[in-house]
Amino acid sequence: MSKRILITGGAGCLGSNLIEHLYSNGHIICAVDNFATGKKEVIPEQDRLQVIEGSVADDVLVNHVFKDFKPDYVIHSAAAYKDPMDWSEDSRTNVIGSINVAKAALENGVQRLINFQTALCYGRPTSIPIPIDHPTKPFTSYGISKTAGEAYFMNSELPTISLRLANICGPRLAIGPIPTFYKRLKAGQDCFCSESVRDFLDMSDFINLIDLALDENSPLGLFNVSTGVGHSIHDVFCAVCNYLEIETPEVPIAPIGSDDIAEVVLDPAETEVAFNWKAKFDFQSTIQNQLRWYDKFGINDIFSHLAVPAKAKN
Ligand SMILES: NC(=O)c1ccc[n+]([C@@H]2O[C@H](COP(=O)([O-])OP(=O)(O)OC[C@H]3O[C@@H](n4cnc5c(N)ncnc54)[C@H](O)[C@@H]3O)[C@@H](O)[C@H]2O)c1
Repeated sequence: MSKRILITGGAGCLGSNLIEHLYSNGHIICAVDNFATGKKEVIPEQDRLQVIEGSVADDVLVNHVFKDFKPDYVIHSAAAYKDPMDWSEDSRTNVIGSINVAKAALENGVQRLINFQTALCYGRPTSIPIPIDHPTKPFTSYGISKTAGEAYFMNSELPTISLRLANICGPRLAIGPIPTFYKRLKAGQDCFCSESVRDFLDMSDFINLIDLALDENSPLGLFNVSTGVGHSIHDVFCAVCNYLEIETPEVPIAPIGSDDIAEVVLDPAETEVAFNWKAKFDFQSTIQNQLRWYDKFGINDIFSHLAVPAKAKN
C-alpha cells in the first residue's frame, strides 16, 4: 500500500537514494531541503513527488508542510555539518530543525519517524565495536547538535526509530575518504591517510533496512546500522588504488586530528536480531560499487565535517 512519506534533507545523499527507491515502490513523497549540501536537480518534481525549498529551522514552513502534505511517515535526514566552525547553523538545523519536525509530527499524528544519527554521538568510544548502550559523549559541533536533536525525538511521545549509521556508500556520496582518494588519485595529486578506522556500509544494505523500519510492526528505539567490521583509511586508499589499477604509492599517515576519532565501528548485533537484517556487501564490494558509480557519473564538491589538517591543504 502506498504511504505518504515526508523526507527532510531529501536532496542529500541518503535522502535522494531513498526517494528513488521509495518512489519506484509507488509511495507519495514530499521532500524539504534548503540545498545547503544537497542538489535540487537530483530530485526533479513529478507526480507523487513534491519538492519544497526551505529550512527545517523555519517552524512556520515546517508546520505548513505537515498540515498541507499530511505525512503518515517522516524520514528526518536533513543535517548541517559542512562548516565545522559554524556552530550556529549546526544548532539551527540539527537542534531547532529537529524540534520543529518532532513537534509538527506529534501535532499531526505521524505514525512513525525515522531519524538518522551520526556515530560521532558516541564521542571517543571506550569499546569497539560500539554497543548501542554505549554512553553518548560527542565533542564536535556536528556530533553535539545531532545528539541534542536525537534526544528531543527519543524523549517525545513520537514513535521514533533513530538509526546510528556507519559510513554509507552509494550514489552521490560526496564526503569522506573514498571520493577524496578517487578524485585526487585520478588527478595525479598527492594523498594522505589518517590513522583512523571506520565501518562502511553499502547503500543497498541501508535501503533494505529502511524498508524494514517503515513496516509498522517493526521495533522502535535506537539502533546501530553497520557491518560491524572496521577498516583503516589506508585500507580504503589501497582499495581505490587497486580499483584504478595504480600501484599503491607510499602515502603519509597523518596522526588523528583533535576533532577526529581513532576508531569508529558500530556493533549492529541488536539491529540484526530486531529487524532480521544483516549487511550483504563486504568492504571490497562496497568500495567497488562506489567507484563504479563515480566512473559513470563523476564527482563534484566534496564536503567534510572535519577540519583539514594544515599539512594536507593545497
Ligand atoms: N551518509 C552517511 O554515511 C551518514 C552517516 C551517519 C549519519 N548520517 C546522517 O544521515 C543524514 C543524511 O546524511 P547525508 O549523508 O545524506 O548528507 P547530505 O549532506 O547529503 O544530506 C543532508 C541534506 O540536508 C539538507 N539540509 C541541510 N540543512 C538543512 C535545513 N536546515 N533544512 C532542510 N534541509 C537541510 C542538505 O541540503 C542535504 O540535502 C544526516 O542526518 C546525517 O547526519 C549520514
